[in-house]
Amino acid sequence: MSGGLEVQRHASGEALPEWVARLDRTAFGAAWKAPAAHEALWLLPGLAFARWACIPAAGEAELLRIAVDPAHRGGGLGRRLLEACQEALAAEGMTDLHLEVRASNQGAIQLYRACGWEPCGRRGGYYPDGEDAVLFRRTHS
Ligand SMILES: CC(C)(COP(=O)(O)OP(=O)(O)OC[C@H]1O[C@@H](n2cnc3c(N)ncnc32)[C@H](O)[C@@H]1OP(=O)(O)O)[C@@H](O)C(=O)NCCC(=O)NCCS
Repeated sequence: MSGGLEVQRHASGEALPEWVARLDRTAFGAAWKAPAAHEALWLLPGLAFARWACIPAAGEAELLRIAVDPAHRGGGLGRRLLEACQEALAAEGMTDLHLEVRASNQGAIQLYRACGWEPCGRRGGYYPDGEDAVLFRRTHS
């Protein structure tokens, strides 16, 4: 199903495609604005997006949001997208990667583990509803 799909980088300054805002609302309840100058967005067009905050001078990037269309989850798209982002970021010198995730989000946690991320901390009551955040880090390229 996903054989010929190509991960694309969304050009900064371009309007956010409507399907990204739609998927953002579906997955997280609200859509963010167009990426800021220090952010990067990768897409599997119509199917998935991953949004990052980048600090190239420090070799660091933080995964802000990743989402796959609900009808296409569990088929390897999240992994394909995340691995493509990791490769592209490493090519730009960003190999110190960070993220935080809800402790209950086992699907995302499995994806991160599958892509070489390791838990490195916890923030109690981090989310507005009181749920803890688990911190993950990935340091190799
Ligand atoms: C998290 C998310 C991006 C995963 O995308 P996906 O395309 O379904 O994931 P994949 O099919 O690529 O699976 C990647 C790995 O995670 C595992 N996995 C994925 N979803 C899982 C689930 N719900 N439960 C257990 N394991 C799961 C897969 O088995 C796979 O492991 P493997 O490669 O070792 O077999 C997707 O479920 C999603 O969009 N969730 C809603 C948004 C969200 O919570 N984002 C994360 C917080 S920003």
